Amino acid sequence: MNESSLGQELREEMENLIGPLARSLSNVILATDDRIALPPGSESALAEFSEALPEHGCGATATIERLLELNEAAGGNTGGPRCFHFVIGGSTPAAMAADLLATAYEAVTYTWLLSPVGVRMELQALDWLKEMFGLPRSWPGVMVTGATMANFVCLAAARQWWSEQLGFDVSATGLSGRPQMPVLTSGFVHASTLKVMAIQGIGRANVQQFSRDDFGRLDLVALEQALIDLKGQPALVIVNAGEVNAGEFDPVKEMIGLARQHNCWVHVDGAFGLFARLSPRTAHLVEGVEDADSVTVDGHKWLNVPYDSGYAFVRDYDLLARAFRYSADYLPDEHSDRPTPGAIGPESSRRARSFAVWATIKAYGRTGHRRIVEHCLDLAQHFSQQVKNAAQLELMNDVQLNIVAFRYNPGGLKEEQLNELNERLGEAVLADGRFLVGTSRIGSRIVFRPAFSNWRTRFSDVEEFAEVVLAIAKGLS
Ligand SMILES: Cc1ncc(COP(=O)(O)O)c(C=O)c1O
Repeated sequence: MNESSLGQELREEMENLIGPLARSLSNVILATDDRIALPPGSESALAEFSEALPEHGCGATATIERLLELNEAAGGNTGGPRCFHFVIGGSTPAAMAADLLATAYEAVTYTWLLSPVGVRMELQALDWLKEMFGLPRSWPGVMVTGATMANFVCLAAARQWWSEQLGFDVSATGLSGRPQMPVLTSGFVHASTLKVMAIQGIGRANVQQFSRDDFGRLDLVALEQALIDLKGQPALVIVNAGEVNAGEFDPVKEMIGLARQHNCWVHVDGAFGLFARLSPRTAHLVEGVEDADSVTVDGHKWLNVPYDSGYAFVRDYDLLARAFRYSADYLPDEHSDRPTPGAIGPESSRRARSFAVWATIKAYGRTGHRRIVEHCLDLAQHFSQQVKNAAQLELMNDVQLNIVAFRYNPGGLKEEQLNELNERLGEAVLADGRFLVGTSRIGSRIVFRPAFSNWRTRFSDVEEFAEVVLAIAKGLS
């Protein structure tokens, strides 16, 4: 590439690329239903992947062709209808289109000045989300990459509050020589919270979990005793609204009510569980969440916007700003008339996640999103019925939301043998590739835990999933 003609060459290349790119986008998006969930043999497809640093490169057209080829051979179809792993949503048409446009516009939402519309969309979309979830409108919110970072924001706010209760400012002085912040929760606490505790110097091992059974369900009496024992010392109570193994909930209202009798910051991790509020069938599971101090929600799970997209809501704007202060003479601060999300959250450079969130709510409204949630509730019930109907599948609990914990149990096997069989079966189902699904552990039992959070999934997909698991299992045992 000759430096003097660089601009001209790249402009021409962009013009030549855009037509084929539009066709590729159309092919890729419209094939989402049919693309395999996880192409078998992806490792061998990538065997020749590593190469020496290209000196001159092969140009955009050849590179994008190669990318498409590689993705067909070794890309998980995580937005497709047969991905039940982790908790992964699809993308609504409006969200997908808006997200592509956010990239095309190269929109930056650090501060209003760089994209007045992107920042206004963020504030508007967060207001809409608060209304949908029944959270107080006065709470500030901030868009981040996902629930891990939303938990990061909320715990940073909790830690700031805790330090001020003890008469110091953790953001200014750090934690050296200070006591540990007590953190109390149930056995449902998500790994991302432990990661955040590690990063923020609270300490991963400093969590106290009060659970009464293998599932991790809250022992409310033990929690109450621990809070009494704190004798008014400030503490953080984490309420888990939706846990990942079986989609169960802490008793939100009781737990918050109890914490409120003590000197606690209450954080609710509602990454996917908060969507229960959108349906009258499940709203009771998160009743009372508005009495918390901070709440985590994920968008790329059940809002069905593209990765990555999560939201932190915190009761107190000034506290949030003290935790995330980002100031320099050339930067707008958190009190500027021009809203600056980068000054109240961890990321300063931020892409316009707001485009997709605003667009999907604008396009489908509260009702459209309630329909997506209820469709997934129906899928979970339908799948649990398939499990009940199959003599060799064992349902692990009553399905409350969108996750169905089950295992293969042909009878006559000891627990260890069942675990070993289900572990092998999990690997075999992944190797088959028609479904992308994971296993986990409830107590000492290995279980499958398909999560349904994508509008694309059909009843026939979940029926086929039960058939495929049974057929593969038959080949193993
Ligand atoms: C309850 C809960 N919290 C936090 C997370 C982390 O979310 P993310 O992967 O979007 O960071 C998850 C992910 O499944 C979750 O289920």
